[in-house]
Amino acid sequence: MEKKKFSIVVAGGGSTYTPEIVCSLMSQLDRFPLRKLVLYDIDEQRQQPIAEACRILCREYDPSIEFIATTDPKEAYTDIDFCFAQIRVGGLKMREKDEKIALKHGCVGQETCGPGGIAYGMRSIQGVLENLDYMEKYSPNAWMLNYTNPASIVAEAIQRVRPHSKIINICDQPLLLEDQMAKIAGLKSRKEMDVRYFGLNHFGWWSEIKDQEGHDLIPKIRAYMLEHGFATSKEDAADESWNTTYEKVKDVLAVDPDMIPSSYFNYYFYPDDIVKQSNPNYTRANEVVDGREKMVFYICQDIIQKGTTKGYELYIGDHASFVIDLAYALSYNTHERMILITKNEGSIHDFDYDAMIEIPCIVTKDGLEKVTIGKIPTFQKGLMEQQKSCEILVVDAWQQHSYHKLWQALTMNRCVPSAKIAKELLDDYIEANQDYWPELK
Ligand code: G6P
Ligand code: MN
Repeated sequence: MEKKKFSIVVAGGGSTYTPEIVCSLMSQLDRFPLRKLVLYDIDEQRQQPIAEACRILCREYDPSIEFIATTDPKEAYTDIDFCFAQIRVGGLKMREKDEKIALKHGCVGQETCGPGGIAYGMRSIQGVLENLDYMEKYSPNAWMLNYTNPASIVAEAIQRVRPHSKIINICDQPLLLEDQMAKIAGLKSRKEMDVRYFGLNHFGWWSEIKDQEGHDLIPKIRAYMLEHGFATSKEDAADESWNTTYEKVKDVLAVDPDMIPSSYFNYYFYPDDIVKQSNPNYTRANEVVDGREKMVFYICQDIIQKGTTKGYELYIGDHASFVIDLAYALSYNTHERMILITKNEGSIHDFDYDAMIEIPCIVTKDGLEKVTIGKIPTFQKGLMEQQKSCEILVVDAWQQHSYHKLWQALTMNRCVPSAKIAKELLDDYIEANQDYWPELK
């Protein structure tokens, strides 16, 4: 029997991550063959060069794959097995505002944590919902594997308003950090580690890390990290700001003597230091525009001009490998264990039953089976409850168009020092997001 060939739409085709996804798909056509690849974006101009370069690449690897670039949702979502969603509502222009408005008020200017993430969440929910509705209309059996940030808030909203949809919310951060930890432990791959992990997205902890023989690796990894942070070499992070983040993990670890926390706790534990280090006139959004975005568009133009990808090697990053591994596991019922965002439903015994949490899951053809985490320590539980309440209030605010709920969400957030500053932030974000947020009453 001929092997099934898959059809994929990348929603947010103009993303700087799209070429990496297409490269990774091309690198594994043997195990995961394609019949159709669609890039879909609402911004035709942005998507165009990326699509043209990817079309050339795709033709070189398998000319039988139907390659489509479109701004038409019907064309994008018809006859699809998987949607890899990675949209950014408002683009990097709005990311810059999320970050700079926060810093103007002396708060952490980060796109997923703190006030910036709240503002971004209020934009993202509607965009993901629209794409999900298109998918369900034109390809009701398809799965959406959704990277769209801020993943926690998006996941919370989608599970509330579309509880039966075939969507899995994902993030590559746990495995990026596992890569680092595997290197620290002297292993070839993160897949050689057995881990226990729990938390919320960008807000989680490794409570156990063992090698294949069952040896506890946490003491070795912690000892290294207390001295060096997460970085294992200068090249680990693409940009300076990520090196700073990896470095700061030393201080985060010091607070927590047993587990290994996500690097994002920098923002929640040391917001004052982070603000001090930040440049309010040049944030991560600017760094991405001047770095990754410039480079990706430059390479795409070069490929288009030459009519070939010759001279370039396929770039296969974790971001792309992870989502393809997930599609593969769902398609072939592999029971691979992956850290994913899912509804708690009792996995963490002493945490909200309905909350969306991030834990290891077993992936089958029907979706996810979660592992049991059990009870969690007071420190982690308290932090998670505060953060989860903040995220739930954001979704309440979005659903009820409530100014007050959003003010409460901002007040609840660890990166915002007072209700007064929360209100000032809120008023600035409302002004900046007129084209994106529901009108708040
Ligand atoms: C990590 C996070 C993502 C985030 C990404 C990019 O991979 O898990 O959620 O989008 O970093 O950050 P950057 O600042 O490079 O756009
Ligand atoms: Mn993430």
